[in-house]
Amino acid sequence: MHVNLKTKSLYCFVTVTLIFVIFYLNNTSYLKKTEIEIPRVTNRPYHKITTEEITIYTRPRTKTRYILLWTNPNSYPFAYFGEGNSVFKNKKCEYNNCYVTSNRQLLRDYTEYDVIAFNGPQLIEITSSDDLPKVRTFRQKYVYANVEAAANYPICQNNWDNFFNWTWTYKLDSDAIWGYIAVFNTSNHVIGPSTDMDWMSVDDMSPIDKELKQKLASKTKAGAWFASNCNTLSKREEFVNEVQTYLKDFDLKIDVYGSCGTFQCPKSIMPRCLEELERNYYFYFAFENAISEDYVTEKILYALDHYTVPVVYGGADYSRYLPPGSYLNAYQLGAKDLATEIYDILENREIYYRYFRWRKYYILRRRHESPRTDEYCRFCAMINDDDLMAEKTIYKNFSAWWTPAGLCGKNK
Ligand SMILES: *[C@@H]1O[C@H](CO)[C@@H](O)[C@H](O)[C@H]1NC(C)=O
Ligand SMILES: *[C@@H]1O[C@H](CO)[C@@H](O)[C@H](O)[C@H]1NC(C)=O
Ligand SMILES: *[C@@H]1O[C@H](CO)[C@@H](O)[C@H](O)[C@H]1NC(C)=O
Repeated sequence: MHVNLKTKSLYCFVTVTLIFVIFYLNNTSYLKKTEIEIPRVTNRPYHKITTEEITIYTRPRTKTRYILLWTNPNSYPFAYFGEGNSVFKNKKCEYNNCYVTSNRQLLRDYTEYDVIAFNGPQLIEITSSDDLPKVRTFRQKYVYANVEAAANYPICQNNWDNFFNWTWTYKLDSDAIWGYIAVFNTSNHVIGPSTDMDWMSVDDMSPIDKELKQKLASKTKAGAWFASNCNTLSKREEFVNEVQTYLKDFDLKIDVYGSCGTFQCPKSIMPRCLEELERNYYFYFAFENAISEDYVTEKILYALDHYTVPVVYGGADYSRYLPPGSYLNAYQLGAKDLATEIYDILENREIYYRYFRWRKYYILRRRHESPRTDEYCRFCAMINDDDLMAEKTIYKNFSAWWTPAGLCGKNK
C-alpha cells in the first residue's frame, strides 16, 4: 500500500492530539481539581467527621455540600450552574463550597448528596420513565426548581405530594427564588419583592426635578412592544391588537418590534433599540407569556432602566414588585381602559411625570447583580445552614402549592 507523506503526517497529528486529549482529561478531571475530593462514606450520620474529613472540617465553610442535578443539566435553569463550584466563586458568594454535578456516580450512592434538584418541566419525562432515585434519606433536601410559569407546566396529579422538601421557583413563597428583580431603598437595604411591601404613596413623593423632565422631553411615540413569541398562553398578542384598535381612535399606536410586528430589532443591535426606547417612547409593554402568580420576568427592568413606563400584563400582584405609580397594569385595566389611560397621560405631561417620582426613593436592580441578592449564592448559603437543613420541611400537597387555582379542573 502506498502511503504518501500527507497521510503519514495526518496519522502522526491525530496520534499526538489523542495523547494530549487523554493527558488533559486525566489531569483536569473535576475531582482532581477540587480541593476536597473525598466521596463521603455511605450512611454515616450527618455530623460525624471521618478521618478523611478532619482537615476539611477544621476549616469552616469549606466542607463540600453536594448538589445533584437529577434532570438534564443543560436545560434552564440548571444550565446556569455548570459543573463544580465555579458558579459560586464567579458570583463571589459568601459560600462557595457547594459542588454541583449531574454525575449520579460521583458519590457512592444517592443518599450522599445534600440536595437533589429536579427541573419542573422534566418531571413528566422522569415519571413516565420511572427515573427516580431509589434510595433516599430524611436528611436530604429534594428540590423542585422551575423558572417557567406554572400555567405552562401545571401539575395536576398527586404523585408529587410529600416528595419535595424545598422549592426554587419565581413564586415568592418558594424557599429560594429564581427571580429577576430586587428592590432596594435609598439606604441600600433589600426591601423586596415581597408579599407585604410597605411602599410610600405617590402623593407623599416629591415631584421630579428639572433634569429628569429634560430627559423625558425627547419622547414622541406612545409605546413599544418587543416580542418574539406571537402565540402565547396568556393571549397577550390578542390583547395588544385590541389595545391598538382603541388607540387608533386617539391617533396613537404601539410599535411592535420582533416577529410579532413590523419593527425590527435583532439581538445584535439590542443596545441601539434600547437607546431608541429611552429617547422616543413613553410606554413599554412588559407582557408576560403566561398568567401565573408572581410570574414577573426581566422585561420590566428594560423599561425602568430606560426611563419608560412599563405597562404590565401578567398574573402577579405587581405591588409586590413595583413602587406605586411606576407602571400601568394592563391585565387589570383591560384593553379599552388602558388605551384611554395612555391617552389621558399623554395629554398631560404633569401626570406622566408622576410615574417617575419613585426614582428618588427606590432602586430596582437585577437580582444577580450582587451576591447579596443572588439566589445561587443564597441557595448555597441555605445548604450551609445546618439548622435549615435539619428542619423537616415537606410539600405535602404539591399540586395545590404550584398550580394556579382552577387550572387543573379545566382540562379534565
Ligand atoms: C431602608 O430599609 C431599612 C430596613 O427596613 C430601614 O431600616 C431604613 O430606615 C430604610 N431606609 C430608608 C431611607 O427608608
Ligand atoms: C424531606 O422529605 C421527605 C419526604 O417527605 C421526608 O421524609 C424528610 O423528612 C424530609 N427531610 C427534610 C430534611 O426536610
Ligand atoms: C390538595 O389541595 C387541593 C386544593 O386545595 C385539594 O382539592 C386536594 O384535595 C388536596 N389533595 C390532597 C391529597 O390533600
